[in-house]
Amino acid sequence: MGLGVAECFAAAGIRVRLTDATPQLSREAKERLVQRARGHAKAGLLSAEAAGRAESVEAADDAPGAARDADLVFEAVPEDLELKREILAACSDAGPPEAVIVSNTSSLPMDELARSVVRPERFLGTHWFNPPEWTPGVEVIPAAATDPEVVERVMAFLKGIGKRPAIVGDGPGFVANRIQNALFLEALRCVEEGLASPREVDEVVRSCFGFRLPFFGPFQIADMAGLDVYVSVLETLKEGLGERFEVPAVLRELVEQGRTGTKSGSGFLEYSDEERERLLLERDRRYVALNELLDRLPPVEAGRDGGNS
Ligand SMILES: NC(=O)c1ccc[n+]([C@@H]2O[C@H](COP(=O)([O-])OP(=O)(O)OC[C@H]3O[C@@H](n4cnc5c(N)ncnc54)[C@H](O)[C@@H]3O)[C@@H](O)[C@H]2O)c1
Repeated sequence: MGLGVAECFAAAGIRVRLTDATPQLSREAKERLVQRARGHAKAGLLSAEAAGRAESVEAADDAPGAARDADLVFEAVPEDLELKREILAACSDAGPPEAVIVSNTSSLPMDELARSVVRPERFLGTHWFNPPEWTPGVEVIPAAATDPEVVERVMAFLKGIGKRPAIVGDGPGFVANRIQNALFLEALRCVEEGLASPREVDEVVRSCFGFRLPFFGPFQIADMAGLDVYVSVLETLKEGLGERFEVPAVLRELVEQGRTGTKSGSGFLEYSDEERERLLLERDRRYVALNELLDRLPPVEAGRDGGNS
């Protein structure tokens, strides 16, 4: 993760100094970064100029050496609270007092991490997604002590290098892992119950509702489908599969108020007649374009059903 983020920063023209657990590993990491960027350029994924910037990345012997005179410290050591706390403390102590300190974590509580930072108002968490060079989404997780101005600066920085960050709260798994794992658990249940094989489930997810996800999230998709339809479907799911499909009160209330989505002019979001027409037309344009892209770049056919399926 750290190497991918370093490549991303370097390609964007940011001066980067990286480090690893030992001076030798730090030098090797720099070498791997250069090779990785060259490989990306060779594959046509990165311009030669952007890839060449990886060569000017410096390797520091240790974390304090990397943090000295940094504007932004980005920690991506393994997901171990004590190790992260130790590295964050060392970096925040060694670096300039105004340097922003970021921890990349999939799940660790932000306030626990913030406690180890000198001047924790300049600390926050981010959650990037693999591969970080290409995945635009980044969850930005402020701690209770984080200065809102620091959050704004990090958001602007991430947008400036082409990312699509979103600020989320410090709940278990933040937002992305929580939703991704809810999907994964239900997918696994479908396989366990013999409804479909892993490959068939993957096809259904990718080609049915997943086809919409590059453009729309669950709320806009629900608005376009009709919230009344969602209530009916959830009632059937609850009858067959139990309490976890209970219709949430907020959804029932929206439907009772006649706010059934785009068709009524409001659901989770509000739509004028003109906005609704434009939304549906733009949706169709994007789906046609996505189908064309999939014709050119079809899903990777790798892996066969077997094992426990
Ligand atoms: N792998 C993912 O898909 C992913 C996705 C999102 C977030 N994350 C988070 O990013 C963080 C890093 O994950 P990863 O998968 O890259 O881990 P990793 O184990 O692949 O890499 C961690 C790096 O930290 C180095 N390291 C270990 N101890 C160190 C020390 N004392 N000082 C300096 N460097 C040290 C290791 O040598 C290694 O290069 C974790 O918190 C993880 O939860 C990972």
